[in-house]
Amino acid sequence: VRVLSVASEAYPLVKTGGLADVAGALPAAVAPHGVEVTTLLPGYPAVLKALGRAKVVHRWPDLLGTPARLLAGKLSGHPLLVLEAPELFTRDGGPYAAPSGRDFDDNWRRFAALARAAADLASGGVSGRSYDVLHAHDWQAGLAPAYLRYAPATDAVARSVVTVHNIAFQGRFDAGVFPHLGLPDAAFAIDGVEYYGGVGFLKGGLESADAITTVSPSYAQEIRSAEFGMGLEGLIAARADRVSGIVNGIDPAVWSPEADGALAQRYSVRTLARRTANKRAVEAAFALDPGDGPVFCVISRLTWQKGMDVLAECIDALVGMGGRLAVLGSGDLGLEQAFYLAGERHPGRVGVRIGYDEPLSHLLQGGSDAILIPSRFEPCGLTQLYGLAYGCVPVVARTGGLADTIIDANVAALAAEVATGVMFAPVSAPCLTGAIQRAVALYRQPERWAAIQRRGMRMDFSWAASGLAYARLYGGLM
Ligand code: ADP
Ligand code: GLC
Repeated sequence: VRVLSVASEAYPLVKTGGLADVAGALPAAVAPHGVEVTTLLPGYPAVLKALGRAKVVHRWPDLLGTPARLLAGKLSGHPLLVLEAPELFTRDGGPYAAPSGRDFDDNWRRFAALARAAADLASGGVSGRSYDVLHAHDWQAGLAPAYLRYAPATDAVARSVVTVHNIAFQGRFDAGVFPHLGLPDAAFAIDGVEYYGGVGFLKGGLESADAITTVSPSYAQEIRSAEFGMGLEGLIAARADRVSGIVNGIDPAVWSPEADGALAQRYSVRTLARRTANKRAVEAAFALDPGDGPVFCVISRLTWQKGMDVLAECIDALVGMGGRLAVLGSGDLGLEQAFYLAGERHPGRVGVRIGYDEPLSHLLQGGSDAILIPSRFEPCGLTQLYGLAYGCVPVVARTGGLADTIIDANVAALAAEVATGVMFAPVSAPCLTGAIQRAVALYRQPERWAAIQRRGMRMDFSWAASGLAYARLYGGLM
């Protein structure tokens, strides 16, 4: 089975969040099941730089109004295609926004071009290339199945899958962009790309794809309701027979405490005590007073989705319980400010690092006692899985993938010896404070705490099961 996976980011070439981890790990996850994944990425400067001198395998004189070339390379040993279109992708800033943080005005054209290129590849329009399945991730690739659907029907047209990593980001644009997309007029319809009078990239993909997946079974259920569906709940419910949830795995080559070069001290489930060296390193990195009390960490986008406003309200209580807090993240300016102020209020107890720092995120997992994830919604979530693997006990909201991957240390779970974390609901300051309280109480029972840590470390959230699930999905479409 040959799959073309289309995404706007993939680790290690370009990453702003979990999508990159998943797109980067998918090829290796399904390879054991006879699936060859080729990844298609936009030619951002960092991607082109990593690619070096690459072979040009195709040229578009005019791809949505601009010349483009297709370059071939490797992504962690698997086939990679890069869409080089200088007018669209050669610029300062991140994948989606200028250095100022403002989204690029022409994101619709940038990602429509990516999708168009993907559809050309997946419908036999690029000589020497053919695929059985086109796998589009999130709104940035959402138009690809729509382009495929309106492509001339031939044997060369691939089947299509859309994976929703986050339904809150939908790629909604003004109706004025439609004539520039190169879709037939018929596509501007309720069962096409039209969305509340404008154009919806994700919406068009969800309408057009042969299968829809999200990144956990709970989220697959949740997005059928208005509370989580963000306007697309009707569509999801109507196509429910094609919707499934496959939980993300984690890549053991990147996330294993036994082999992690970013740690001060490596350790395993049998040498948990060695974590102490990492805790000391976390204290040093975040200017926390050294001590035996629990260190909580946060590794997150600082946004409403992640419940960071609620956490900010709980910091004084956390410190009052003898806890310390290390925050690594960036996002909304108001939230960055709130954490910064908390650090000022509690010197030695609260340390804040605003920014994005991959090695530091590893050290935090390896040295903190617990990780706080009070998300209002969480399609899957990866940091709780990294927490489990590293013995950094997850304290999570009961939603989406968090609910699917953590077992709350309630009375029954403690008695049955199956607890792996602390879970709470709803996402409010009193409930999060209560969860932190429960975590601190468990931490003060060292045997019990260590048992929770070890149990998490022994859980298998590698890609084994999910790789097989994707391979079966692809196979079922053919
Ligand atoms: P989301 O994709 O919604 O942001 P996930 O939990 O799926 O949430 O994935 C977040 C990914 O980004 C994880 O790999 C996490 O370690 C990483 N991450 C988030 N914020 C930071 C940061 N400030 N520095 C380093 N890594 C971060
Ligand atoms: C999105 C979601 C997150 C998920 C990630 C990878 O960013 O917010 O929950 O883990 O995609 O699927």
